Amino acid sequence: MDSSLPLVSVETLRDMDALRRMREAGPVHHVNMGGREPGWILTCHEAAAKALVDPRLRGDAPQAQGPEKELADEEDLFFLPGEQHARLRRMISRQLTPRRVAGLLPRIQHEADLLLDAMPAAEPADFIAAFSRPFPVAVLCELLGVPPDGRRHIRDYVFGWIAEAGVGTVVTESAGVAMAGYLKELIARRRADPRDDLISAMSAADPRDVLSAVRLLLVAGHRPVTRLLTEGVEILLSRRPGLVEDPARLDPTVEELLRLITPTALSSRYVKESLEIGGVELPEGGGVHCVLAAVNRDPDRFPDPDAFAPDRPANPHLAFGLGHRHCLGAALARAEAKVAVGTLARRFPRMRLAADQGPAPTRAGTRKLLVVLDPGDPT
Ligand code: HEM
Repeated sequence: MDSSLPLVSVETLRDMDALRRMREAGPVHHVNMGGREPGWILTCHEAAAKALVDPRLRGDAPQAQGPEKELADEEDLFFLPGEQHARLRRMISRQLTPRRVAGLLPRIQHEADLLLDAMPAAEPADFIAAFSRPFPVAVLCELLGVPPDGRRHIRDYVFGWIAEAGVGTVVTESAGVAMAGYLKELIARRRADPRDDLISAMSAADPRDVLSAVRLLLVAGHRPVTRLLTEGVEILLSRRPGLVEDPARLDPTVEELLRLITPTALSSRYVKESLEIGGVELPEGGGVHCVLAAVNRDPDRFPDPDAFAPDRPANPHLAFGLGHRHCLGAALARAEAKVAVGTLARRFPRMRLAADQGPAPTRAGTRKLLVVLDPGDPT
């Protein structure tokens, strides 16, 4: 590790002042990425938007090359060798279509209503535990076709691995093994007797690929949605009046929340063929990491970038990445956010943040967001 280079840690990626200073200093920075190999980070919208679609950059790290191997742990799913990754990506994108997401809307609505029905209305309740954490898992189960009696396996796995904020948290082995065993059996059942769900739609493929694709969706499709809903509700409730002023403006509201929150901090590529970005020569094999949180607050693209302004005339944020590795769940994530925010605004127009938010969290993953859904008539 090169200690002479500035260190970019998980905390730096969330420190808007540090990111602003870096962006002001230039679009490309050679940095020490903590546990990873040194690389270049991009902080401006123009440079990142060009890099993410540049064919001289690839999605898989050079060390991921080589024969296909059994996946040792879930993070490997993001760093698969090119061909294996492309196969999984093709399989998912053919089936996880906007049409499938549209067909799922009544189920997404149902899951949102169930969770809100179970929340106390008149007294403070933790929105993260009651809604923003369980909702994305329930939606993924609906998408995949996991029946109610199997959801325990999915919840144990997803919460065990992902609920903690740190990257590299290990799945408790038993939850991972139990879920894989359950899913193998479900994939075989759906192959023999298909239903109208994503596992059935993918089940003609090699069952090992179907299992990897399902795990990738569970790992990628949970934490950013939780973050968007938690911080989104916090931003919306910090303003007055109302959660959304005009329900017809739900789309630009969600887009602006995506821009401002940018739930996934980095989008990484590797140099296949050396190239120049922003006047800097990047050598073959180097890592190029677009800091989406900085890119989405670039004042050259978004005037007054730190303000929540859903009425921006254009909002070309890169919260879902871009190019051949862009997010496969973007349509589903948007649908989830619109259903969640729209339902809260319709059912609980007086919803507010609790005046007392309790003690600050001492460990990652233990944060609470206390809200009162229905504080009663103000008169
Ligand atoms: C607000 C919610 C979400 C955000 C902000 C988000 C953001 C991202 C970003 C930035 C990437 C990397 C893109 C790139 O490198 O160009 C990504 C990849 C991915 N996302 Fe999402 N995502 C969200 C929700 C979801 C959901 C709900 C699913 C699945 C149901 C999902 C599935 C994936 C998958 C499978 C990948 C990997 C694609 C690949 O490696 O080729 N995401 N996401």
